[in-house]
Amino acid sequence: MPNQPSPYISKRSLAQRQTSKIEGQRGRLEDLPEITLTSVRVEALATQLATDVKGTISAGKEATVFHALWYDFPLALKVYRLYATPHAKGGKRKKMGGGKVGYSKDIMSYWASREFWILDRVFRAGVKVPTPARHIDNMFTARFLGENGTPAPLLKDVQIEHPKRIFNSIIDQIFAIYRVFIIHGDLSAFNILYFQNEPWIIDFPQAIDFASRPNRHRALKKGRPILLRDITNIVKFFEKYGIPAEAQALCDECMEQISFNDRLDKKTFVR
Ligand SMILES: Nc1ncnc2c1ncn2[C@@H]1O[C@H](COP(=O)(O)OP(=O)(O)O)[C@@H](O)[C@H]1O
Ligand SMILES: [Mg+2]
Repeated sequence: MPNQPSPYISKRSLAQRQTSKIEGQRGRLEDLPEITLTSVRVEALATQLATDVKGTISAGKEATVFHALWYDFPLALKVYRLYATPHAKGGKRKKMGGGKVGYSKDIMSYWASREFWILDRVFRAGVKVPTPARHIDNMFTARFLGENGTPAPLLKDVQIEHPKRIFNSIIDQIFAIYRVFIIHGDLSAFNILYFQNEPWIIDFPQAIDFASRPNRHRALKKGRPILLRDITNIVKFFEKYGIPAEAQALCDECMEQISFNDRLDKKTFVR
């Protein structure tokens, strides 16, 4: 399974940690070429993230998702590439020698690692998310949701047969995510896959993780507008199926799971 650490990785990572000084800036800027299927395949195989990378599923703003294999086992491989976005180091592209674009691999690795570990936490909390497999640098793998290399459709693109059940399941999952002090932050029918007649939540880079904050119970309370936005997106989406729901009330109910007066981590969950 892909969870075996590879001795190769630490050597390579060490080499990458050499600090360079570019345009008077301190930081680890590297001149890496644009991510292509071939370059990702080379990297994924070398780091033992996958045994093959079959093709691109989606190229989003900050990351590209590939269909990969670990022997016969299909994986989704998400590769962060921030250099073409405002997140790029310095807030804009930095031209380097040979027309390449410089960026901090650390930042991309941070985002990949953050999404991977949030995925891991919500997976362990019993939420229906693709099982996280392994994370290395700016890439991570998770269970591929789909059949024969074709990814499962997004919730927005399917006609749901039992909308009430699916709606309840999504709300239950929002509640479960909240119980581990996380709010998705970008939840909508665009970030839910419909697979085996169930909703699967994906895409957590915008998640807010209150778990390690001091006095996280109180910090979590400040996340209400974001939680409400997530719930409202879902409630609005299901309006077309005639499902009546009150986003404000659901948001309150979700927040009541955790007692904000409790400064200690007692078992304060009511669900
Ligand atoms: N585990 C997965 N299995 C199958 N397809 C996936 C998986 N994760 C992501 N995808 C596909 O890749 C697309 C982009 O993934 P997502 O995590 O939402 O990144 P982005 O930030 O680009 O929106 C999704 O809309 C979905 O079609
Ligand atoms: Mg998405």
